[in-house]
Amino acid sequence: MPQSRRQFLSLTAKAAMLAAGASLGLPALLPAATPEGFGSTALPVPGTSGLFGLLAPEGRLTLTATEAPGALPATGASMLAYSASHKGADYLNPILVLRKGQHFEATLANGLSEPTIIHWHGVDGPWKQAGHPSYAIGPGGSYEYAFPITNRAGTYWYHPHPHGLTAKQAYMGLASFFIVRDEEEEAFSKELDLRLGETDIPLVIQDKRLTHDGRLDYSPSKDDLLMGYLGDTVLTNGQRRPTLKAATRLYRFRLLNGSNARIYNLSFVQAGMRLPFFLVGNDGGFLPAAQQINGLFLAPGERADVLLDLRTLSPGQEVFLRNMPFDPMHNEGDMAGMSHVGQHATPQHGGGHGAVPAAGAGGHGESHGALGEGDAYPLLRLLVDRKVPYDRMPPKNLPSIPQPAAGRAERPMTLALKHMGGWTINGLAFDMNSAPIVAQKRGVEVWRISNAKASMPHPMHLHGYFYRVLERRGSPAQVKSRAVDAQGRLASDLGYKDTVLVWPDETVSVAIDFGYPNYPGEQLFLFHCHNLEHEDQGMMLNVKVI
Ligand code: C2O
Ligand code: CU
Ligand code: CU
Repeated sequence: MPQSRRQFLSLTAKAAMLAAGASLGLPALLPAATPEGFGSTALPVPGTSGLFGLLAPEGRLTLTATEAPGALPATGASMLAYSASHKGADYLNPILVLRKGQHFEATLANGLSEPTIIHWHGVDGPWKQAGHPSYAIGPGGSYEYAFPITNRAGTYWYHPHPHGLTAKQAYMGLASFFIVRDEEEEAFSKELDLRLGETDIPLVIQDKRLTHDGRLDYSPSKDDLLMGYLGDTVLTNGQRRPTLKAATRLYRFRLLNGSNARIYNLSFVQAGMRLPFFLVGNDGGFLPAAQQINGLFLAPGERADVLLDLRTLSPGQEVFLRNMPFDPMHNEGDMAGMSHVGQHATPQHGGGHGAVPAAGAGGHGESHGALGEGDAYPLLRLLVDRKVPYDRMPPKNLPSIPQPAAGRAERPMTLALKHMGGWTINGLAFDMNSAPIVAQKRGVEVWRISNAKASMPHPMHLHGYFYRVLERRGSPAQVKSRAVDAQGRLASDLGYKDTVLVWPDETVSVAIDFGYPNYPGEQLFLFHCHNLEHEDQGMMLNVKVI
């Protein structure tokens, strides 16, 4: 049977893309690469269609979870994505842009061969709108969402949540941003002349293992399931070591750690020195005030909204977004009887502008592949290529937020490895049909989330409500050195959080107001580790709110 011309063209195009992708794996073919491997690959920046295109939905939007051949920017390989059509444009993993107060209506269509469900991470909504795994739909099925957007302006995101399949589906590509805007945020953007997709750029950071021909490889070993699946290539907006050509002005980056398990220690580095930058927002929107910092831990699920000032640079100069070396603190070995006990020296993280170790400095070799979690490596190059007049300054004060409400009920949450088993919360593993945590609506609780000493860092996420971080105790030196107050909190702890990283031997106390939002009726949300292998393996509990 003769192929139609159209089929033929699409097949040849695909083959060409795959071939081009495969050649990217060979450094010899990279055009004029810098010593760190940066060539002419451009950062994929959200446009008005395509992968990560900006989509401001009007009316009901259908998102189809499906295989997307040729879509992975780095290699042209196939990935999974949410496909959507809106006003004549086609999208994959659209960056949804909503306005506070807007009514959001979406249909998830399952075009996969296994169950799935979308969770809107950080987005307010009653539990049936939030993608509880008990609502996962089978192949060919669909799920209807409809709820008002009540969040503050901020950078939220969406990804799958079918129990036991979340890690694989997110890893294969199903994830994108969910940006909420409001009057205050629009005034802020106007004041600083920031435009989404141009000078206000969402950056999702994800590490992947690629096969020799550039395909995404998700095949976790028993060890990977215990530790989390680490890749050996880190992609920024789906691209490896991309470059953004930049002007001498202020840029806003909305950073999302969309990795399954990898924690990043991010800095902007110019000529071997860390540049100061401003943290203006985190998981739940603006902080009370802009915080000047020069480094930031970002764990899976967390977001950071940052401003970087390039005004003093000249055309030709480069700034790198880098992962800075740190101790990943994989201290679980002595309990699990594993071979890779993480006994790494803790690097120095003083204040001020520290000199930066050379590229590719290893020293944190893990058994997970070539790229250790605490290694030094670059993620993105900003290449200044033009001078522009720009005289705006980041505001000192941002939209105000209330103090955390005083808590009544105190709840210990202990994170530990069950002997020879998986990770647990208060000794428990996930059971779809039980709700070990029952909270009272309109009550404020203080959760003391304590991580065992023989453990690893766990980014703990709550659905439905935000945390206010009250204090950090027992923090390791690399965290303590960045504390901004007597409570041991970090700059990134000062706003509303939905995911907090808890290091081994550390206790993070958070206040949760179960009265806000005031959802009608009984609710069933989740508290889980956002290391997605941990989550799928059961480091998750139902939280009933009555
Ligand atoms: Cu982003 Cu329950 O997760
Ligand atoms: Cu969530
Ligand atoms: Cu964990």
